[in-house]
Amino acid sequence: MGCGGASVLQGAQSVLLVSLTLTCVGLVIVVVTNNNKTDPGTTPPSPPLYLIGLGRADCTGPPAEVPLMGYANAGQTAAGIHTRLFSRAFIVDDGRSRIVFVSVDIGMVSQRLRLEVLRALEQKFGSLYHRQNVLLSGTHTHSGPGGYFQYTLFMMSTKGYIKSAVQPVVQAIVKSVELAHENMRPGRIFRNSGKLEQSSSNRSPQSYENNPRDERDRFSEDTDKQVTVLKFTDGDGDGIGVLSWFAVHAVSMNYTNRLVSSDNMGLASLMMELDKNQGLPGEGRFVAGFSSSNLGDVTPNTRGPHCANTGLKCDYVNSSCPVGGTKMCMGLGPGVDMFESTRIIAENIYKKTKELYSTAVEEVRGSLHFAHQWIDMSNVSLPINSTHTVRTCKPALGHSFAAGTTDGGGDLNFTQGMVEGDPFWDGIRDDLVGQPSNETQDCHRPKPILFSTGEMSWPLPWHPTIIDVQMFLIGSVAVLAVPGEMTTMSGRRLRAAVKQELQVGGAFKDLEVVIAGLSNVYTHYITTYEEYQVQRYEGASTIYGPHTLTAYIHHFTHLSKAIRQDSVSDLDPGPEPPFFSSLFSLLPAAAADNKPANTSFGDVLDQVYPLYRQGDVASVTFVAGNPRHSGDIRDKTFVTVEKFDNNTQTWTVVHTDASWETRFHWLKGADRQSNATVEWFIPHGAPSGVYRIRHFGHYKEIKNFRPVILPYEGQSHHFTVAPSYYSAP
Ligand SMILES: *[C@@H]1O[C@H](CO)[C@@H](O)[C@H](O)[C@H]1NC(C)=O
Ligand SMILES: *[C@@H]1O[C@H](CO)[C@@H](O)[C@H](O)[C@H]1NC(C)=O
Ligand SMILES: *[C@@H]1O[C@H](CO)[C@@H](O)[C@H](O)[C@H]1NC(C)=O
Ligand SMILES: *[C@@H]1O[C@H](CO)[C@@H](O)[C@H](O)[C@H]1NC(C)=O
Ligand SMILES: *[C@@H]1O[C@H](CO)[C@@H](O)[C@H](O)[C@H]1NC(C)=O
Ligand SMILES: *[C@@H]1O[C@H](CO)[C@@H](O)[C@H](O)[C@H]1NC(C)=O
Ligand SMILES: *[C@@H]1O[C@H](CO)[C@@H](O)[C@H](O)[C@H]1NC(C)=O
Ligand SMILES: *[C@@H]1O[C@H](CO)[C@@H](O)[C@H](O)[C@H]1NC(C)=O
Ligand SMILES: *[C@@H]1O[C@H](CO)[C@@H](O)[C@H](O)[C@H]1NC(C)=O
Repeated sequence: MGCGGASVLQGAQSVLLVSLTLTCVGLVIVVVTNNNKTDPGTTPPSPPLYLIGLGRADCTGPPAEVPLMGYANAGQTAAGIHTRLFSRAFIVDDGRSRIVFVSVDIGMVSQRLRLEVLRALEQKFGSLYHRQNVLLSGTHTHSGPGGYFQYTLFMMSTKGYIKSAVQPVVQAIVKSVELAHENMRPGRIFRNSGKLEQSSSNRSPQSYENNPRDERDRFSEDTDKQVTVLKFTDGDGDGIGVLSWFAVHAVSMNYTNRLVSSDNMGLASLMMELDKNQGLPGEGRFVAGFSSSNLGDVTPNTRGPHCANTGLKCDYVNSSCPVGGTKMCMGLGPGVDMFESTRIIAENIYKKTKELYSTAVEEVRGSLHFAHQWIDMSNVSLPINSTHTVRTCKPALGHSFAAGTTDGGGDLNFTQGMVEGDPFWDGIRDDLVGQPSNETQDCHRPKPILFSTGEMSWPLPWHPTIIDVQMFLIGSVAVLAVPGEMTTMSGRRLRAAVKQELQVGGAFKDLEVVIAGLSNVYTHYITTYEEYQVQRYEGASTIYGPHTLTAYIHHFTHLSKAIRQDSVSDLDPGPEPPFFSSLFSLLPAAAADNKPANTSFGDVLDQVYPLYRQGDVASVTFVAGNPRHSGDIRDKTFVTVEKFDNNTQTWTVVHTDASWETRFHWLKGADRQSNATVEWFIPHGAPSGVYRIRHFGHYKEIKNFRPVILPYEGQSHHFTVAPSYYSAP
């Protein structure tokens, strides 16, 4: 989750609601590359082509008042749009089996979201797409609307279950699959991987260093630097899309951001798609998915944690500052502000991906396989030798969970690395939600339990116990759907175990294993047993106890074995997850709008200047309605920047609210009045000429005691963009 720590707020019935920080959920795809290229002796001379379909759909939800999902920061509600969010679907069929991989610009895929998507797919396609061959992975942006959860802890932190926020995501995922389904055609897949430096670093090195020395010595870095790409081409060899995996948290945008944003991974997608498609964001056939991986302990804030007040380094062990505590310790960089940091990280990932895409020659061949099971992760027992059995626990969060991370510290002065409880907070917890049972305390040791979520079921269970394990094999590439955020070393161990299992008997020689993070259901973090002992944020958020990773390795190995032995149909599906019917919502309906006297919605309050230079920011403010009144905003825009064409005497849209160059801010004032301020960061390459900015929205008014929603629009004066002073006239 959003690495945001916990904040206490006063709830409706003066119940103390503790809103927790879900730090940084991601999909982890682990790719292990084998240096040996395909053995020419075993390569069929004429490799079978796959059928490939790609699709993309806008999944942007209400950009106002809905809490952004990730940092669990109660004050961080949506107030506009920087970039739009998209679902990107990749379907591959080998004539016998079919798999669907979806990467979606979202904090994490929740169990509820997945179940709703599977139901909707069943309605549309019958039994074609199902729990076993559909894999949903989140990019882990921390700046997307929340509200798509059915477990209490997550509902608490995002104002419950928000139907208007869930529907667009469900419908967009289904639409992206539908588009992919409709454009399936013969094609080929090529794979490539390479190293990307200076775009990630470990935010809990102290935990990492607790892993055995001989294991650490096998790696030169404390995060995985590899970028793994699958290049998709049509039958003629023309590129039609790319899937890229890199392990880094999408937290370049920090918890002060209020604009809906796809963060670094989503921006990398936009950059690659704009490069290939031209046109506006979201247009064109080339689909570029940038997926999360084993990013649990990986930050994009590469200048490292510093005390915001003194500029000095934070304490290494507890990530705290002498004055101001945890909250003052922030990971920064590489840019001067969060926007520039987002752009730099996105550009790095995009450029490396493009390079690997352009040079990919190793063809992926062989048949497709998928395997899936539901597992009760709170109750796995595994013998580790003849005398000892280890087991997982009912879910619980430790004290350091409330500390958050250096990508967003908690408000309550908890520090990371706490292996002892704090009597004050333990007392509050006991009064509010009850004491953890001795059994759960023993099971999680040395974690001091803050919330024994597995023993909290009011009004609904606080955490899932039934989780999905799922994997795909696309020829020589295995994709593991990890339902949470694995740390670097956890991901390495899992990939190695799967690789070893699949290669038993000499099969799958040239195997690459990738972890797709934040897939299918959110269960916070997964650390190694050794990292768990340190109880930093990631260890405290490993909710099924110290042996969680061991259990995942066991179950993914089991799936791998079934694939290797061609016995997937014999796999026990496991216990079906619940689909709760009585979810609560704490988000009131959006109120009717007011406007200043003698104005109309869409009127300009602050006008543009007549002249700007390239590199300037043009800004205009309109009388606005609440964006929630615009309902389903997918494939629409609140903003256009338009250029006048002197030859045709018409206006052409050059940017929308999905563009990186525009920022649409919704500013809510007193008395139900609000403004929309549109900023256009005029690129250095913008052609000179005459432009205007337009804004579109809806407002609600009460007429004859009934609410009516009406559209409005406004536009700025025309203005001129001239070359910057530094370019030739
Ligand atoms: C963090 O650690 C430093 C030294 O290691 C110690 O002085 C400080 O009190 C600790 N802070 C907290 C809040 O635990
Ligand atoms: C947190 O602790 C630090 C020192 O450890 C102190 O300076 C700061 O005021 C505390 N903050 C709060 C909100 O209690
Ligand atoms: C977030 O980024 C802004 C700059 O864009 C910076 O001023 C602020 O201190 C950052 N906050 C945190 C908590 O990192
Ligand atoms: C835990 O699993 C065991 C079998 O592995 C089973 O007998 C037992 O009923 C399960 N307990 C719960 C609470 O589900
Ligand atoms: C089994 O593992 C436990 C825990 O690692 C260890 O203490 C014990 O000695 C082992 N027993 C055998 C027979 O290897
Ligand atoms: C938990 O353990 C403590 C100390 O070992 C004991 O006093 C207490 O009765 C136990 N509680 C329960 C519910 O068993
Ligand atoms: C609104 O317009 C009316 C008529 O033009 C004028 O009398 C009134 O003073 C205006 N009110 C404000 C607040 O400008
Ligand atoms: C636009 O076109 C008119 C004639 O059609 C011309 O006089 C004028 O200079 C043009 N303006 C620009 C900015 O090119
Ligand atoms: C809207 O813009 C006007 C004009 O700049 C300003 O006076 C007012 O405070 C703004 N309202 C809000 C809610 O930002």
